[in-house]
Amino acid sequence: MTDYETVGGSEAVREVIDDFYDRVLVDEVLAPYFRGSDMPRVRRHQFLVISEAMGGPIAEGVMDITEAHKGRGITEDALSRVAIHLVVAMNDAHWPEEIVQRTAQAVMSYRHQVVEK
Ligand code: HEM
Repeated sequence: MTDYETVGGSEAVREVIDDFYDRVLVDEVLAPYFRGSDMPRVRRHQFLVISEAMGGPIAEGVMDITEAHKGRGITEDALSRVAIHLVVAMNDAHWPEEIVQRTAQAVMSYRHQVVEK
C-alpha cells in the first residue's frame, strides 16, 4: 500500500493541503508571498505534487517548480515556516509519523528550486 492510500487517498490529502494553506495564509511572514496568486490553483497544484510524492497519481499540468518560484525572493526562513505548517497539518490529521517524515522530506527535496540565492 502506498502512503497515499494509507492516509485515505485524495480526500485525505486534499484536506491536509487545505489546512496547510489556511495556516500559511495567516502567517504574517508567508502571506505577502501569496498576495495576487490564484490560491485555488496553487492549492490544487500543490495537492497534485504531494499526492504524487506519496505514491498517488502522477501530477499533470503543474508548473515547473523553479519557474513557479523564480523572482519571489523566498528565504530560508520562509521555507522553514512552510515546512512547519505542513508538518503540523499532517500531524493534526493524525497521519502516521513515518508518513509525515517521508512526505515532509519529499516536499523539502525541492528546497533548492524554491529558495532564492
Ligand atoms: C520546497 C517546497 C515547495 C514546493 C514543493 C512548492 C510547490 C508549489 C507548487 C506546486 C505551486 C503551484 C505551481 C503551479 O501553479 O503550477 C507553488 C506555487 C507557489 N509557491 Fe510554492 N512550493 C514550495 C515552497 C514555497 C515557499 C517556501 C514559498 C514562499 C513562502 C512558496 C510560494 C509560492 C507562491 C507565491 C506560489 C504561487 C505562484 C503563482 O502565483 O503562480 N512556495 N508552489
